[in-house]
Amino acid sequence: MSRLIIVSNRVSVPDHKGAAAAGGLAVALQAALAERGGIWMGWSGKSSGDAEPEPLRMTQDGNITYALTDLTQTDVEEYYQGFANRVLWPICHYRLDLAEYARKEMTGYFRVNRFFAHRLAPLIEPDDIIWVHDYHLIPLAAELRQMGLKNRIGFFLHIPWPPADVVLAMPVHEEIMRGLSSYDLLGFQTDHDLENFAGCLKREGMGIEKSPGHFSAHGHDFRGGAYSIGIETAGFAEFARKAASHSMVQKVRQSIEGRDLILGVDRLDYSKGITQRIDAFERFITNNPAHQRSITYLQITPKSRSEVPEYEAMQNAVAEQAGRVNGAIGTVDWVPIRYINRSISRPILAGLYRIAKVGLVTPLRDGMNLVAKEYVAAQDPENPGVLVLSRFAGAARKLKGALLVNPYDVDGTANALARAINMPLQERQERWRGMMDYLLENDVSRWCETFLADLTAE
Ligand code: F6P
Repeated sequence: MSRLIIVSNRVSVPDHKGAAAAGGLAVALQAALAERGGIWMGWSGKSSGDAEPEPLRMTQDGNITYALTDLTQTDVEEYYQGFANRVLWPICHYRLDLAEYARKEMTGYFRVNRFFAHRLAPLIEPDDIIWVHDYHLIPLAAELRQMGLKNRIGFFLHIPWPPADVVLAMPVHEEIMRGLSSYDLLGFQTDHDLENFAGCLKREGMGIEKSPGHFSAHGHDFRGGAYSIGIETAGFAEFARKAASHSMVQKVRQSIEGRDLILGVDRLDYSKGITQRIDAFERFITNNPAHQRSITYLQITPKSRSEVPEYEAMQNAVAEQAGRVNGAIGTVDWVPIRYINRSISRPILAGLYRIAKVGLVTPLRDGMNLVAKEYVAAQDPENPGVLVLSRFAGAARKLKGALLVNPYDVDGTANALARAINMPLQERQERWRGMMDYLLENDVSRWCETFLADLTAE
């Protein structure tokens, strides 16, 4: 079995807490690395200021080597905060209006990818297979090929891929498409993302789909597929069962005094549709006065990418809106929305998923959304809650037992909330069972194995 090299912007160095506690993706990748032996390389998350970053920092854990590099402050600003999070992120989430094209940052993005390639190449042996993750590192394969590397290289995009008209608005779309076309296998979250990619290639004659999933572009043949990422379902279900008796979860339960809990958990990001969701909650209460005082909506929203201006603006917008709605519909003895603007530990989160009657997951656009999957896995089979899910999350393609909503349709989401709160037990159980069976069969280990099997197949 070939050695595996994983490259991603952020690297999860293990803390040996178990898959559910640490986040299933990191643990699945670590398991694949442990089986084959290998290296996980990426950014340390630190800046070296103006100084040239030190050589890679290597740490060994069994037969896995973690190789981390710092980046200069200019690199962090241009590559990570700049092109990755102010161009690629909004474009891939269909937000042309938020994309900020600065030539300097585009150059920085390609420069940092070349820097990664130069640091990685000396570690690579001829039989190694390389698996690159996410939008920060699209040009990496092209850079490695330029250096003469012949290894198999796969890429998985964790976020959506939009249609051609959106992609073409990006000034460097050709270089980005050329970058993607340099891999041997491209993995997308859903069939829609894959179709959008195929459509992009076709437009402007950038390439062709020779047969389903087999592409040719820029003189290179490669494959593409949909590989929907999963969670560590069985482990997370058990973790949540135990977590429900955590003292903090019990405190929350007591503090809501028998009210039904609606739960939202999202990084603070404009793609998550948090302001639209708060509007929908307000509309639900206004349209259903009988539910006034019988519901608590808890929105947990850790800060994210705060150095990027759009995220800073978002933070103020959500805080203001939660305050406004509480002022408008709350009563002296009832605070409808509890808004928490920081992260909560995994055990408490898992316990909260389990006690919530409704999981409210309504992104405007999302690659997959693992919160939706974790919410389902955390439920009590005897008395499961209801998932209200945006049709624009990748998870909606397979979680058919959810109540699917259009997050832009405030009335529609409000109606779905009413339906969820009033849903009879038998219907809740039937909907949950179908989703749970799907999640058990399609967990994160299967995702990882399937991608790697396709990448190594002749
Ligand atoms: O969804 C894309 C993603 O990169 C996730 O993999 C990650 O959890 C999240 O965004 C966090 O982003 P950042 O690394 O910018 O904090």
